[in-house]
Amino acid sequence: MTALPAARTPGSYRIALVCLGNICRSPMAHVVLASLVDEAGLSGHVAVDSCGTGGWHVGDPMDDRAAATLTAAGYDPTLHRAQKFAPRWLDEHDLVLAMDESNLADIGGRTSGGRVHLFRDFDPVDPGGEVPDPYYGGDAGFQEVLTMVERTSAAIVAALQRGPAPGRATG
Ligand code: 4NP
Repeated sequence: MTALPAARTPGSYRIALVCLGNICRSPMAHVVLASLVDEAGLSGHVAVDSCGTGGWHVGDPMDDRAAATLTAAGYDPTLHRAQKFAPRWLDEHDLVLAMDESNLADIGGRTSGGRVHLFRDFDPVDPGGEVPDPYYGGDAGFQEVLTMVERTSAAIVAALQRGPAPGRATG
């Protein structure tokens, strides 16, 4: 299991999720992870955000198919608005998770400090893979993304609960 990097600021843990357009994969992961963080009682000190390496959709809501998939599973997709990645995101977040290898390369790759990873490095079933881009495919692709995102987000929350305890470490 990939280790969680330490918090930069005691009492606060910031997680950024990155894909290409920020209208399909990272927003789905954002909504699911934030929901599980909230359920775990960690929302007071764990913040989740998402962005895309491309800026085509900045300000747009989630893709309709991504939103419908989340709604059918009981999540609220309505608050999302797309944002574009900027290098400062690497300094402002404790953990930065890219959805695929291309997104990872676009933000500079894994760092020696261990803050930048593939999202699915935390996948408890099949770690280290990509979250495939569903944008040009059918509804089944969005369901597949949801399945991957739910189990991986649950593992991230379990890791947050185990430690490093948010706020305990620095660096
Ligand atoms: P995402 O999917 O990276 O999962 O948000 C995409 C959304 C939009 C585009 C590509 C991928 N696009 O080319 O506009």
